[in-house]
Amino acid sequence: MHDKTQVLKSLTEIYGPSGEEEKVREFIKNEVKKFVDDIKIDAMGNLITLKKGNGKKKIMLAAHMDEIGLCCTYIDEKGFLRFTTVGGVTPITCLSGRVIFSNGKIGTIGEEKREDIKEPLKLNKMYIDIGAKDKKEAEDMVSIGDTAAFLREFTSLGKRLIAKAFDDRVGCVVLIQVIKELKRCDNDIYFVFTVQEEVGTRGAQPSAYRIAPDIGIAVDVTSTGDTPQGIHMAVELGKGTAIKVKDRGMITHPKVRGTLIEVARKYNIPYQLEVLETGATDGRVIQMAREGVMAGAVSIPCRYIHSPSEMVDIEDVENSVKLLVKAISSF
Ligand code: CO
Ligand code: ZN
Repeated sequence: MHDKTQVLKSLTEIYGPSGEEEKVREFIKNEVKKFVDDIKIDAMGNLITLKKGNGKKKIMLAAHMDEIGLCCTYIDEKGFLRFTTVGGVTPITCLSGRVIFSNGKIGTIGEEKREDIKEPLKLNKMYIDIGAKDKKEAEDMVSIGDTAAFLREFTSLGKRLIAKAFDDRVGCVVLIQVIKELKRCDNDIYFVFTVQEEVGTRGAQPSAYRIAPDIGIAVDVTSTGDTPQGIHMAVELGKGTAIKVKDRGMITHPKVRGTLIEVARKYNIPYQLEVLETGATDGRVIQMAREGVMAGAVSIPCRYIHSPSEMVDIEDVENSVKLLVKAISSF
């Protein structure tokens, strides 16, 4: 397995729902510490690393460490767990799914009997079964407020890979790779691995305030329009890195978009233009930090986002790295 693929496997399999990013952060810190000049962890848990330049401009790249998950709200007399969501979780991706708590306890998700099978699935009719015989035994295993992540193995199909949490561990891998490959340049480059994106871009906001960047670029996944009866979207898997034009949370600054496109053309890096009609990224709050920041986003095309089996193409990952390495010295 290639180095990058190995890192992708390790990172996607780590437990890290929003608010519980410690294990992901430790892994990334160990990967990058030899290659950066400074490492800080702020109060919320954002990992802020710096590759110093000559102070020409401050550029902030952000990828989020957290993933979606479930949170235990109530344990019934028979030991079944009711739950709420952490981030955008849909009922259809929960059913029969396996989840793991931070202490390693595993459960499967079941549902109450539906009178009519055509009735829609509802999260409040579902529960996690951790194999406990009663409430007492369940309480010894899991507490109210404990968070669970989806449990699914990483699989390589060659160029295409399947895993949970490519959103946004693939963005973290892109940043790690850029850190490793980037030669010194005049700009100071801040690589920020953020917390709590999935619950509303909460980590990126204070880290952008702290850094006060001249340019901000979020690196995250985006949807594709290339599956059967899919959405009308021009992004396809394997057709290159996606330069964001807009999404629900931001409109990329024309200078950032222009520079990214120019660099991609100059170095023949395959790219696509992304207009995402649903969803947002850390770019939203970076753009609105302090007096405002020129911001944009570079996205990795991804099918089945927020399911336990998301799919990316390794070439899109590589092209995202190439584009960022060239672009951040071009601002
Ligand atoms: Co997400
Ligand atoms: Zn994301």
